[in-house]
Amino acid sequence: MQQQQVVAFPTETVYGLGADATNEEAVQAIFDAKGRPSDNPLIVHVGNKEQVYEVVESIPPMAHALIDAYAPGPLTLIMKSNGVSAPNVTAGLSTVAVRIPDHPVAKALLETANLPLAAPSANRSGRPSPTTAQHVYEDLEGRIAGIVDGGATGIGVESTVVDCTGDKPIILRPGGITKEQIEAVAGPVGNDESSLNADDQPRSPGMKYTHYAPEAPLWLVEGDVPFFKAQIAVLQQNGKKVGVMASEELAPEVEQADFVHVYGSRASLNEVAVGLYNALRSFNTKDVDVILSEVFPEEGMGVAVMNRLRKAASETIVQP
Ligand code: TXA
Ligand code: MG
Repeated sequence: MQQQQVVAFPTETVYGLGADATNEEAVQAIFDAKGRPSDNPLIVHVGNKEQVYEVVESIPPMAHALIDAYAPGPLTLIMKSNGVSAPNVTAGLSTVAVRIPDHPVAKALLETANLPLAAPSANRSGRPSPTTAQHVYEDLEGRIAGIVDGGATGIGVESTVVDCTGDKPIILRPGGITKEQIEAVAGPVGNDESSLNADDQPRSPGMKYTHYAPEAPLWLVEGDVPFFKAQIAVLQQNGKKVGVMASEELAPEVEQADFVHVYGSRASLNEVAVGLYNALRSFNTKDVDVILSEVFPEEGMGVAVMNRLRKAASETIVQP
Protein backbone atom coordinates (compact mmCIF):
# COMPACT_ATOMS: atom_id res chain seq x y z
CA MET A 1 0.00 0.00 0.00
CA GLN A 2 2.87 2.32 0.75
CA GLN A 3 3.87 1.91 -2.86
CA GLN A 4 0.50 3.32 -3.93
CA GLN A 5 -0.50 -0.08 -5.21
CA VAL A 6 -3.89 -1.69 -5.15
CA VAL A 7 -4.84 -5.13 -3.86
CA ALA A 8 -8.07 -7.09 -4.21
CA PHE A 9 -9.51 -8.70 -1.08
CA PRO A 10 -12.67 -10.56 -0.06
CA THR A 11 -15.49 -8.99 1.93
CA GLU A 12 -18.74 -10.66 3.00
CA THR A 13 -20.53 -9.15 -0.04
CA VAL A 14 -18.17 -9.13 -3.05
CA TYR A 15 -14.41 -8.72 -3.57
CA GLY A 16 -13.12 -5.17 -3.17
CA LEU A 17 -10.16 -3.41 -4.76
CA GLY A 18 -8.40 -1.57 -1.96
CA ALA A 19 -5.94 1.28 -1.59
CA ASP A 20 -5.03 3.86 1.07
CA ALA A 21 -8.07 6.17 1.11
CA THR A 22 -5.93 9.11 2.24
CA ASN A 23 -3.53 8.83 -0.72
CA GLU A 24 -4.75 10.41 -3.94
CA GLU A 25 -2.24 8.61 -6.13
CA ALA A 26 -3.12 5.19 -4.71
CA VAL A 27 -6.82 5.93 -5.15
CA GLN A 28 -6.20 6.99 -8.75
CA ALA A 29 -4.69 3.55 -9.35
CA ILE A 30 -8.07 2.02 -8.42
CA PHE A 31 -9.91 4.14 -11.00
CA ASP A 32 -7.27 3.26 -13.62
CA ALA A 33 -7.36 -0.49 -12.94
CA LYS A 34 -11.16 -0.63 -13.09
CA GLY A 35 -11.60 1.84 -15.92
CA ARG A 36 -14.02 3.59 -13.57
CA PRO A 37 -15.37 7.06 -14.43
CA SER A 38 -13.83 9.60 -12.04
CA ASP A 39 -17.23 11.06 -11.08
CA ASN A 40 -18.31 7.80 -9.40
CA PRO A 41 -17.10 7.93 -5.77
CA LEU A 42 -15.67 4.98 -3.82
CA ILE A 43 -16.61 3.41 -0.48
CA VAL A 44 -14.17 3.92 2.41
CA HIS A 45 -13.75 0.77 4.52
CA VAL A 46 -12.75 0.99 8.17
CA GLY A 47 -12.06 -1.74 10.73
CA ASN A 48 -14.36 -0.77 13.59
CA LYS A 49 -16.96 1.71 14.82
CA GLU A 50 -14.42 4.10 16.37
CA GLN A 51 -12.60 4.48 13.05
CA VAL A 52 -15.75 5.79 11.36
CA TYR A 53 -15.05 9.08 13.19
CA GLU A 54 -11.70 9.34 11.42
CA VAL A 55 -13.34 10.05 8.05
CA VAL A 56 -16.63 11.85 8.84
CA GLU A 57 -17.46 15.25 10.28
CA SER A 58 -20.05 13.77 12.65
CA ILE A 59 -22.33 10.73 12.88
CA PRO A 60 -26.03 11.63 12.67
CA PRO A 61 -28.39 9.77 15.09
CA MET A 62 -29.90 7.59 12.33
CA ALA A 63 -26.40 6.52 11.29
CA HIS A 64 -25.54 5.70 14.90
CA ALA A 65 -28.61 3.49 15.13
CA LEU A 66 -27.74 1.71 11.87
CA ILE A 67 -24.11 1.20 12.87
CA ASP A 68 -25.10 -0.19 16.27
CA ALA A 69 -27.54 -2.60 14.66
CA TYR A 70 -25.74 -3.74 11.50
CA ALA A 71 -22.02 -2.95 11.60
CA PRO A 72 -19.84 -4.73 10.83
CA GLY A 73 -22.00 -5.86 7.94
CA PRO A 74 -23.25 -5.27 4.37
CA LEU A 75 -24.20 -1.64 4.96
CA THR A 76 -22.63 1.58 3.64
CA LEU A 77 -23.56 4.93 5.12
CA ILE A 78 -23.24 8.30 3.41
CA MET A 79 -22.23 11.04 5.83
CA LYS A 80 -20.51 14.43 5.70
CA SER A 81 -16.81 13.96 4.96
CA ASN A 82 -14.21 15.57 7.22
CA GLY A 83 -11.78 15.82 4.31
CA VAL A 84 -9.39 13.09 5.50
CA SER A 85 -10.23 10.95 2.46
CA ALA A 86 -8.46 11.95 -0.74
CA PRO A 87 -10.64 14.17 -2.96
CA ASN A 88 -10.88 11.56 -5.70
CA VAL A 89 -12.38 9.02 -3.26
CA THR A 90 -15.50 11.17 -2.93
CA ALA A 91 -15.38 12.44 -6.52
CA GLY A 92 -15.43 15.99 -5.18
CA LEU A 93 -18.62 15.49 -3.12
CA SER A 94 -18.87 16.88 0.42
CA THR A 95 -20.05 13.45 1.58
CA VAL A 96 -18.23 10.14 2.04
CA ALA A 97 -19.48 6.54 1.92
CA VAL A 98 -18.29 4.46 4.91
CA ARG A 99 -18.56 0.74 5.57
CA ILE A 100 -17.25 -1.72 8.18
CA PRO A 101 -16.94 -5.06 6.37
CA ASP A 102 -17.69 -8.32 8.19
CA HIS A 103 -15.11 -10.73 6.81
CA PRO A 104 -12.05 -12.09 8.64
CA VAL A 105 -9.68 -11.32 5.74
CA ALA A 106 -10.99 -7.79 5.26
CA LYS A 107 -10.78 -7.19 9.01
CA ALA A 108 -7.20 -8.49 9.17
CA LEU A 109 -6.20 -6.34 6.21
CA LEU A 110 -7.74 -3.19 7.72
CA GLU A 111 -6.06 -3.91 11.03
CA THR A 112 -2.65 -4.52 9.43
CA ALA A 113 -2.85 -1.49 7.13
CA ASN A 114 -4.19 0.64 10.01
CA LEU A 115 -5.65 2.97 7.39
CA PRO A 116 -9.07 3.61 5.92
CA LEU A 117 -9.18 1.68 2.64
CA ALA A 118 -11.03 3.00 -0.39
CA ALA A 119 -12.46 -0.03 -2.15
CA PRO A 120 -15.01 -0.37 -4.91
CA SER A 121 -16.00 -3.81 -6.17
CA ALA A 122 -12.96 -5.45 -7.82
CA ASN A 123 -14.43 -5.84 -11.32
CA ARG A 124 -13.77 -3.97 -14.54
CA SER A 125 -16.31 -1.14 -14.70
CA GLY A 126 -19.63 -2.32 -16.15
CA ARG A 127 -19.09 -6.02 -15.47
CA PRO A 128 -20.74 -8.15 -12.77
CA SER A 129 -19.08 -7.74 -9.38
CA PRO A 130 -16.63 -10.50 -8.40
CA THR A 131 -17.65 -13.10 -5.84
CA THR A 132 -14.48 -15.21 -6.22
CA ALA A 133 -10.77 -14.48 -6.61
CA GLN A 134 -11.03 -16.10 -10.06
CA HIS A 135 -13.55 -13.43 -11.15
CA VAL A 136 -11.13 -10.70 -10.04
CA TYR A 137 -8.33 -12.41 -11.94
CA GLU A 138 -10.44 -12.60 -15.12
CA ASP A 139 -11.12 -8.86 -14.98
CA LEU A 140 -7.93 -7.34 -13.53
CA GLU A 141 -5.02 -9.67 -14.25
CA GLY A 142 -1.94 -7.58 -15.00
CA ARG A 143 -3.63 -4.37 -13.78
CA ILE A 144 -3.28 -4.77 -10.00
CA ALA A 145 -0.54 -5.78 -7.54
CA GLY A 146 -2.32 -8.85 -6.15
CA ILE A 147 -5.41 -10.69 -4.97
CA VAL A 148 -5.95 -12.08 -1.47
CA ASP A 149 -7.95 -15.25 -2.11
CA GLY A 150 -10.50 -15.84 0.65
CA GLY A 151 -12.78 -18.19 -1.27
CA ALA A 152 -16.28 -17.36 -2.47
CA THR A 153 -18.07 -14.47 -0.75
CA GLY A 154 -21.08 -15.19 1.46
CA ILE A 155 -23.75 -12.66 0.50
CA GLY A 156 -23.16 -12.25 -3.20
CA VAL A 157 -24.57 -8.75 -3.78
CA GLU A 158 -23.04 -5.50 -2.58
CA SER A 159 -23.82 -3.58 0.58
CA THR A 160 -26.94 -1.47 0.96
CA VAL A 161 -25.99 2.20 0.47
CA VAL A 162 -27.96 4.55 2.74
CA ASP A 163 -27.76 8.33 2.59
CA CYS A 164 -27.84 9.60 6.20
CA THR A 165 -27.36 13.29 5.44
CA GLY A 166 -31.06 14.28 5.36
CA ASP A 167 -34.12 14.05 7.64
CA LYS A 168 -34.71 10.39 6.90
CA PRO A 169 -32.53 7.61 5.54
CA ILE A 170 -32.60 7.20 1.76
CA ILE A 171 -31.64 3.88 0.19
CA LEU A 172 -29.42 4.72 -2.78
CA ARG A 173 -28.63 1.10 -3.60
CA PRO A 174 -30.50 -1.96 -2.27
CA GLY A 175 -28.16 -4.65 -0.95
CA GLY A 176 -27.34 -7.09 1.80
CA ILE A 177 -29.34 -5.27 4.51
CA THR A 178 -33.02 -5.05 3.58
CA LYS A 179 -35.29 -2.01 3.69
CA GLU A 180 -37.24 -3.70 6.51
CA GLN A 181 -34.04 -4.02 8.56
CA ILE A 182 -33.21 -0.33 8.00
CA GLU A 183 -36.70 0.81 8.93
CA ALA A 184 -36.68 -1.29 12.08
CA VAL A 185 -33.96 0.89 13.60
CA ALA A 186 -33.95 4.17 11.61
CA GLY A 187 -37.62 4.78 10.79
CA PRO A 188 -39.34 5.08 7.39
CA VAL A 189 -36.95 5.37 4.43
CA GLY A 190 -37.13 7.43 1.30
CA ASN A 191 -36.08 5.53 -1.81
CA ASP A 192 -35.03 7.82 -4.57
CA GLU A 193 -32.00 7.22 -6.75
CA SER A 194 -32.50 10.40 -8.72
CA SER A 195 -33.04 13.01 -6.01
CA LEU A 196 -30.41 15.68 -5.40
CA ASN A 197 -28.10 15.88 -2.40
CA ALA A 198 -26.77 18.85 -0.46
CA ASP A 199 -24.26 19.50 -3.26
CA ASP A 200 -27.14 19.69 -5.77
CA GLN A 201 -25.77 16.61 -7.45
CA PRO A 202 -27.46 13.25 -7.98
CA ARG A 203 -27.40 11.40 -4.66
CA SER A 204 -26.04 8.25 -6.18
CA PRO A 205 -23.51 9.10 -8.85
CA GLY A 206 -22.91 5.45 -9.79
CA MET A 207 -26.49 4.79 -10.82
CA LYS A 208 -26.29 6.32 -14.28
CA TYR A 209 -23.68 3.88 -15.57
CA THR A 210 -24.24 0.48 -17.17
CA HIS A 211 -23.72 -2.21 -14.58
CA TYR A 212 -23.32 -5.92 -14.05
CA ALA A 213 -23.69 -6.75 -17.73
CA PRO A 214 -22.74 -10.10 -19.27
CA GLU A 215 -21.35 -10.02 -22.81
CA ALA A 216 -24.50 -11.33 -24.51
CA PRO A 217 -27.73 -9.29 -24.10
CA LEU A 218 -29.84 -10.28 -21.10
CA TRP A 219 -33.64 -10.24 -21.22
CA LEU A 220 -35.85 -10.59 -18.15
CA VAL A 221 -38.91 -12.72 -18.84
CA GLU A 222 -42.11 -12.09 -16.90
CA GLY A 223 -45.10 -14.43 -17.16
CA ASP A 224 -45.49 -18.15 -16.61
CA VAL A 225 -43.37 -21.16 -17.61
CA PRO A 226 -45.19 -21.80 -20.94
CA PHE A 227 -44.54 -18.18 -21.91
CA PHE A 228 -40.85 -18.56 -20.98
CA LYS A 229 -40.57 -21.73 -23.10
CA ALA A 230 -42.27 -19.98 -26.01
CA GLN A 231 -39.65 -17.20 -25.91
CA ILE A 232 -36.86 -19.76 -26.15
CA ALA A 233 -38.60 -21.47 -29.08
CA VAL A 234 -39.12 -18.23 -31.03
CA LEU A 235 -35.49 -17.18 -30.57
CA GLN A 236 -34.22 -20.61 -31.63
CA GLN A 237 -36.50 -20.55 -34.71
CA ASN A 238 -34.74 -17.32 -35.60
CA GLY A 239 -31.38 -19.06 -35.44
CA LYS A 240 -30.37 -17.70 -32.02
CA LYS A 241 -28.52 -19.73 -29.43
CA VAL A 242 -30.30 -19.20 -26.12
CA GLY A 243 -28.84 -19.28 -22.61
CA VAL A 244 -31.06 -19.38 -19.54
CA MET A 245 -30.25 -18.29 -15.98
CA ALA A 246 -32.55 -20.54 -14.03
CA SER A 247 -33.57 -21.35 -10.50
CA GLU A 248 -33.72 -25.02 -9.52
CA GLU A 249 -37.47 -24.80 -10.03
CA LEU A 250 -37.30 -23.40 -13.57
CA ALA A 251 -34.33 -25.47 -14.80
CA PRO A 252 -36.17 -28.75 -15.60
CA GLU A 253 -38.70 -26.79 -17.68
CA VAL A 254 -36.18 -25.12 -19.97
CA GLU A 255 -33.96 -27.99 -21.08
CA GLN A 256 -34.64 -27.01 -24.72
CA ALA A 257 -32.25 -24.02 -24.23
CA ASP A 258 -28.70 -24.22 -25.61
CA PHE A 259 -27.13 -23.61 -22.17
CA VAL A 260 -28.77 -23.46 -18.75
CA HIS A 261 -26.99 -22.10 -15.67
CA VAL A 262 -28.74 -23.22 -12.49
CA TYR A 263 -28.10 -21.13 -9.41
CA GLY A 264 -30.23 -21.61 -6.34
CA SER A 265 -33.82 -22.06 -5.34
CA ARG A 266 -36.71 -19.62 -5.58
CA ALA A 267 -37.44 -20.68 -2.01
CA SER A 268 -34.31 -18.79 -0.87
CA LEU A 269 -33.68 -15.39 -2.39
CA ASN A 270 -30.51 -15.22 -0.27
CA GLU A 271 -29.24 -18.24 -2.21
CA VAL A 272 -30.17 -16.59 -5.51
CA ALA A 273 -28.17 -13.51 -4.45
CA VAL A 274 -25.12 -15.62 -3.59
CA GLY A 275 -25.04 -17.19 -7.08
CA LEU A 276 -26.21 -14.19 -9.12
CA TYR A 277 -22.95 -12.66 -10.36
CA ASN A 278 -21.36 -16.02 -11.04
CA ALA A 279 -24.46 -16.89 -13.09
CA LEU A 280 -24.15 -13.69 -15.15
CA ARG A 281 -20.45 -14.36 -15.76
CA SER A 282 -20.99 -18.03 -16.69
CA PHE A 283 -22.40 -17.10 -20.12
CA ASN A 284 -19.25 -15.24 -21.19
CA THR A 285 -17.54 -18.54 -22.01
CA LYS A 286 -20.60 -20.05 -23.70
CA ASP A 287 -21.74 -19.72 -27.28
CA VAL A 288 -25.04 -17.93 -26.71
CA ASP A 289 -26.61 -14.98 -28.56
CA VAL A 290 -29.09 -14.01 -25.87
CA ILE A 291 -29.60 -14.83 -22.18
CA LEU A 292 -33.05 -15.16 -20.64
CA SER A 293 -33.67 -14.82 -16.92
CA GLU A 294 -36.73 -15.35 -14.80
CA VAL A 295 -37.79 -12.57 -12.41
CA PHE A 296 -38.04 -12.83 -8.63
CA PRO A 297 -40.42 -11.36 -6.05
CA GLU A 298 -39.21 -7.94 -4.90
CA GLU A 299 -39.20 -8.61 -1.20
CA GLY A 300 -36.33 -9.04 1.26
CA MET A 301 -33.15 -9.85 -0.68
CA GLY A 302 -35.27 -10.03 -3.87
CA VAL A 303 -35.14 -6.22 -4.04
CA ALA A 304 -31.36 -6.24 -4.46
CA VAL A 305 -31.47 -9.22 -6.84
CA MET A 306 -34.02 -7.56 -9.13
CA ASN A 307 -32.15 -4.23 -8.98
CA ARG A 308 -29.01 -5.96 -10.31
CA LEU A 309 -30.91 -8.04 -12.89
CA ARG A 310 -32.68 -4.95 -14.26
CA LYS A 311 -29.40 -3.09 -14.62
CA ALA A 312 -27.67 -6.11 -16.16
CA ALA A 313 -30.55 -6.30 -18.66
CA SER A 314 -30.59 -2.53 -19.28
CA GLU A 315 -34.30 -2.78 -18.40
CA THR A 316 -35.06 -5.18 -21.29
CA ILE A 317 -38.17 -6.94 -19.99
CA VAL A 318 -40.29 -9.37 -22.04
CA GLN A 319 -43.93 -9.46 -20.97
CA PRO A 320 -46.84 -11.64 -22.05
O1 TXA B 1 -20.42 -4.40 -0.80
C1 TXA B 1 -19.90 -3.37 -1.25
O2 TXA B 1 -20.40 -2.24 -1.05
C2 TXA B 1 -18.62 -3.53 -2.07
C3 TXA B 1 -17.53 -4.08 -1.15
C4 TXA B 1 -16.21 -4.19 -1.86
O3 TXA B 1 -17.44 -3.28 -0.01
N1 TXA B 1 -18.21 -2.27 -2.64
C5 TXA B 1 -18.88 -1.66 -3.66
O4 TXA B 1 -18.31 -0.50 -4.13
O5 TXA B 1 -19.89 -2.13 -4.15
P1 TXA B 1 -18.72 0.23 -5.50
O6 TXA B 1 -17.73 1.29 -5.70
O7 TXA B 1 -18.82 -0.79 -6.55
O8 TXA B 1 -20.10 0.89 -5.20
C6 TXA B 1 -20.15 2.06 -4.39
C7 TXA B 1 -21.49 2.75 -4.57
C8 TXA B 1 -21.60 3.39 -5.93
O9 TXA B 1 -22.92 3.22 -6.40
C9 TXA B 1 -21.28 4.86 -5.62
O10 TXA B 1 -21.84 5.72 -6.56
C10 TXA B 1 -21.87 5.01 -4.24
O11 TXA B 1 -21.58 3.78 -3.58
N2 TXA B 1 -21.22 6.11 -3.48
C11 TXA B 1 -19.95 6.17 -3.01
N3 TXA B 1 -19.72 7.35 -2.39
C12 TXA B 1 -20.88 8.03 -2.44
C13 TXA B 1 -21.30 9.33 -1.96
N4 TXA B 1 -20.48 10.15 -1.33
N5 TXA B 1 -22.59 9.69 -2.21
C14 TXA B 1 -23.44 8.87 -2.85
N6 TXA B 1 -23.10 7.65 -3.33
C15 TXA B 1 -21.85 7.24 -3.13
MG1 MG C 1 -19.27 -1.84 -8.19
